[in-house]
Order: sequence, then C-alpha cells, then structure tokens
Amino acid sequence: MNASLISIASYVPPRALTNFDLEKMVDTSDEWIVQRTGIRTRYIADGLLTSDLGARAGRLAIERAGLNPADIDAIICATVTPDHFCMPSTACKIAEKLGITGVMAFDISAACSGFVYAMDIARSLVCGGAHQNVLIIGAEKLSSIVDWTDRKTCVLFGDGAGAGVVSRARENSANFIIDAHCASDGSKSDLLITPGPGSSCPASHHMIEEGACFVHMAGNEVFKVAVQTLKNDVVEILRKNAVPSDAIDLFVPHQANLRIIDAVKTRLSLRDEQCVITVQKYGNTSSASIPMALSDAFEDGRLRGGSLVLIDAFGGGFTWGSALFRFGI
Ligand code: ACO
Repeated sequence: MNASLISIASYVPPRALTNFDLEKMVDTSDEWIVQRTGIRTRYIADGLLTSDLGARAGRLAIERAGLNPADIDAIICATVTPDHFCMPSTACKIAEKLGITGVMAFDISAACSGFVYAMDIARSLVCGGAHQNVLIIGAEKLSSIVDWTDRKTCVLFGDGAGAGVVSRARENSANFIIDAHCASDGSKSDLLITPGPGSSCPASHHMIEEGACFVHMAGNEVFKVAVQTLKNDVVEILRKNAVPSDAIDLFVPHQANLRIIDAVKTRLSLRDEQCVITVQKYGNTSSASIPMALSDAFEDGRLRGGSLVLIDAFGGGFTWGSALFRFGI
C-alpha cells in the first residue's frame, strides 16, 4: 500500500511586518536583513492562536482534497509554538475547531523539520492500513516566542500555517510518497533553544527576567551545520532512489535563509524554475514554511497532480529530513 499527499493549503495572517517596520524597533536595516537572509516581509498573527492558523489551513486542505472533516481519521500538528505549554495539544484544539471528534490527534515537536516528520508519520499510519486520510499541519505563532528587542532573532521569524491531507494512494497510481527520511542529533541542541519553561527551567520570575522563554540561536553556527546537513540529505535521498536532480519538478526547501537555499540548490545543480522560494515574503515560519511554500506553488499552478517534488528541512533539535513524492491523488 502507498500513501500520497493529495492536497495542500495554507493560511497567512493579515498583518505584514516589513524590514522597514523592524528598522524602527531594533538596530537593523533592510539592507542587512535582505543581504544576510533574503527576507523582506513576515506576517504576524495578532489575536489569533496557533490552532486558529492551523484550523484555517486544515479546513482548506480538506476542501481541496475533496473530502469532508468527517473523512479525516487522524490529525498531526507540527509546532514549536503550541497554544498551551504541555496540554491540551494544538492538534486537539484544531480538531475541535474543524468539528472533528473521536480521532487520534497529537502534536509533534521537531521545529522546522516538523512537516517532513508529520508526512513520514502519516505515511506510516496510512501504509499500516489503520488510517485512510491523515490531516498534517505545520502551524506556528513564532511572534509569541520572539524577543522583539533582540535583532539577531526577531528579524528572522514569522507566523503562518500550512496543511495537507495524506491518503491511501489509488491502485496503480504513480502519485505517492516515494521516500522520506527523518533524523536528529541532540548533541548541539543548545545552539537553537527556548530554555524555558520546562523541566530543566520551570516557570519562575527568574525565567522571565532572563528571557529564557524566547528563542535563542547561535545563528552562524546553526548556519554552517544546516548547510552541510541539508546538502548531504538531499544528495542521499536522490541517490538512494536513483532520481537525477534534473528530474525534480519542484524543490521545496525549508525557508530559513536564502543563502542556505542557494547553497543546496548549487550542490544539486538545480535550475531557478525547479526551486520554490517564499522566504522573502514570509520569513522563517518553522514547521509551516514547507507547506506554505507548497501551497503557494499549488496556487501559482507550478505544483500539479503528478509533479515530482523534493522537500528538505533542518531545524532545532537538531532535526532534519527530506521527502520525495509525486503530488496528488
Ligand atoms: N541587523 C544588523 N546587524 C545584525 C543583525 C541585524 N538584524 N543581526 C545580527 N547582526 C550583526 C551581529 O551582531 C554581528 O555583528 P558583529 O560582527 O559586530 O558581532 C554581525 O551582524 C554578523 O552576525 P552573524 O550572526 O555572524 O550573521 P550571519 O551572517 O551568520 O547571519 C543569520 C545571521 C541570518 C541568523 C544566519 O546565521 C542564519 O540564517 N542562520 C541559520 C538559521 C537557521 O537555519 N535556523 C534553523 C532553522 S530555525 C528553527 O528551527 C526554528
């Protein structure tokens, strides 16, 4: 049995925050942000929860799959900005907002690799035979964990959500998830971390005063590991499946930094038209970045039924992963 990503959708919150807006908030410049990251705008989810973003993307993904909410038999939400620390899960809140009851719903924490992890788990659920249609979501309200006085991080992140439905592939269809590979290395976890609250740093006045609840990133060190890991990962999945890079219709990498994307693109000798790049519009939306980029490509007509797609992500943990699939039912 095969599983296929049969739909994709996204939700972008309404308020745009430009580099020029950020120039008024911290000591930065549009020039620095564009040169170092490629980012020009990001969107902020004022008054909305991560589950609101996820539910809006999820509803559209179900609609685009030609299904009803009642057809969904599992919900996986990848997020590092859940509605609530610990419980309930954001997936449960999304289920409630979509009117879906009685099905397995859970969150996964794999930072920017979350959507790739979710797709791989959904594939296993479907191929195991117990599930028919799994809703996978990457949803983030990163603005809620960003220190808006820290120029090293606040210029990078944005809010948003993307979602897709993974279903049983039709018999004899060529459209299915060909391969997925997810991995991790916890030895460098301190390079990208929100220290608290958690068992290592319980909630306290001290935790707040130290800014431990914000994202802390050793950007330059993360950059070097990200470039190397992503390059190796995409080369390996293509080699393993005997797919030459010029056969890829769309390469949709995690959208953290244009320089990282360019390095991987050069390593694979990909042409511009093979790459989907949205980092300039949305910034880094962590687990939402790949499904948001896929959804943009779908809406532009670049992603079609049968398109051969390579996705690739790297994030906090460290986690990373890639997947190769033919889109659609
Ligand atoms: N505006 C102006 N100057 C700045 C800014 C800013 N917003 N931020 C940092 N600087 C300064 C620094 O203070 C430093 O100045 P100094 O040399 O006087 O000390 C200088 O710019 C260079 O700083 P670096 O951190 O070395 O800059 P770098 O070129 O590495 O770019 C960046 C930083 C954009 C963060 C980059 O390192 C990066 O993209 N890293 C990887 C991010 C990533 O892939 N994360 C993984 C996924 S995210 C997730 O999982 C949630």
